[in-house]
Amino acid sequence: MKFLFLIFLCSLNLCHTEGSGSAVTFPGYKVVRFVPQNQEDVEAAKKMEENPGILVLRQAGSVNQSMDVAIPPHMQTDFMSAARKQMPSSIMTENLESLIDRESMQLAMDESSSSTQTFEAVFTQYMPLEAVNQFIIQLQNLHPDMVNVSTYGKSVEGRELQMVKIEREGGSENKHIMLMDGTTHAREWISTMQTIYFMNELCEQDTPEVNKILDNFVVFVVPVVNPDGVDPNRNFDFGFGGIGSSDDPCSEVYHGPFPLSAPETQALSEVISSLKPMLYLCMHSYSQMMLHSYGCSQPGEINEREAEHVKYFISRSMLPIY
Ligand SMILES: *[C@@H]1O[C@H](CO)[C@@H](O)[C@H](O)[C@H]1NC(C)=O
Ligand SMILES: *[C@@H]1O[C@H](CO)[C@@H](O)[C@H](O)[C@H]1NC(C)=O
Ligand SMILES: [Zn+2]
Repeated sequence: MKFLFLIFLCSLNLCHTEGSGSAVTFPGYKVVRFVPQNQEDVEAAKKMEENPGILVLRQAGSVNQSMDVAIPPHMQTDFMSAARKQMPSSIMTENLESLIDRESMQLAMDESSSSTQTFEAVFTQYMPLEAVNQFIIQLQNLHPDMVNVSTYGKSVEGRELQMVKIEREGGSENKHIMLMDGTTHAREWISTMQTIYFMNELCEQDTPEVNKILDNFVVFVVPVVNPDGVDPNRNFDFGFGGIGSSDDPCSEVYHGPFPLSAPETQALSEVISSLKPMLYLCMHSYSQMMLHSYGCSQPGEINEREAEHVKYFISRSMLPIY
């Protein structure tokens, strides 16, 4: 089986790119996961992504690294069957639209009952940018001795890029710097909430875990790296243009015209250079994965032993609750 299925139906219309303003819908879309077994499958998967009829949720990477695509009804007979013959696959979601409907319904319900909503409940749902900005100001007002909100730049559309510094008096003499960021990718909404939840825990809890962090670290949190929806992930200057990026402006993994061309990456890289954090955690939310060191590096380029050590402790502490 070669790349036959790749060119089917390229000209059919795109249900999911309606005009601005109207809600995007995915009626009858199925989400399918493909797992390339060899280089030929990887190439086939990449070609499949170029098909404008399908919606790529997760790009093809390398052998064994899965790709997820949402496939519209009109492609489910020919295209999907052919693709599923090429390499192992599984249906992740029979009906994408019904999942989205369920979430929208939940959001509408939450909105109508917002006056009675507890603060806890907020961590489980999408928070718009204005709400994030309100939250961090509120946190600063509640804990003026610990929290300092500042602006470290402006986004390409002129929105302020906000950073929160959380620091407690006392503890170790020479505290380390920790940086956490979220919302590099606009669609990974839970990564925003992870940072919000983390900041709230640091300020509101007095547990041994929180004390350990605040006794040893000055914590900086950027809840929204990307307030406009550009994808800055591949625009940083380290390993620019490497594997997993594209110079095609229409690609989902477009890296931009040159390193740090986006004001978001420029500003964040200045923050990183000046803070020199000992620990830097970037929150994303696609897949159940923890990636360490550089996503674009090959084994051997980094201190693997140290990274494995850290990974072991993180996964061990996550295991009981996850
Ligand atoms: C892919 O997974 C199989 C089965 O787990 C393994 O034998 C193989 O070495 C893996 N290949 C790569 C390139 O990771
Ligand atoms: C936050 O920090 C900046 C710079 O360190 C300082 O100028 C500002 O006054 C601080 N804001 C508050 C509310 O403490
Ligand atoms: Zn991401």
